[in-house]
Amino acid sequence: MKKIIIINGPNLNLLGKREPSVYGHLTFESFFNQLQRQHTTVQLDYFQSNIEGELIDKLHDVGFSYDGIILNAAAYTHTSVGIADAVKAIDTPVVEVHISNTHAREKFRHVSYISPNAKGVILGFGLQSYDLAIQSFLD
Ligand code: DQA
Repeated sequence: MKKIIIINGPNLNLLGKREPSVYGHLTFESFFNQLQRQHTTVQLDYFQSNIEGELIDKLHDVGFSYDGIILNAAAYTHTSVGIADAVKAIDTPVVEVHISNTHAREKFRHVSYISPNAKGVILGFGLQSYDLAIQSFLD
């Protein structure tokens, strides 16, 4: 069974409450339950942290044994050389996802430190971006 993990960065623990016009009304936990019910042929794990170093530690933990990482580094996407270096350092392919279309938003969101080392990038499809990323890891 393939092992895939979703890693979410800062403020994504507030999904459902945070700017619902941008990020929707669903909590990530209930969306994740739906995803697990839909994808019974994979082991799907989830980790969220608001702390940059914890995200890096998790990438190190899973990055040599998992089949796929789906990373929404949230605001750290646009700032973190440390997370970008971790993505480059590990073996497991990383698909970068964003709920919103970051290119249609403020200019500082147009830059991603993750993208150059990601297998691919999926953004702007709401929470469905995560589902599309899972599909990208399936044969
Ligand atoms: C986000 C976009 C980022 O610019 C923002 O800082 C987030 C969420 C998204 O999923 O659309 O926190 O990564």
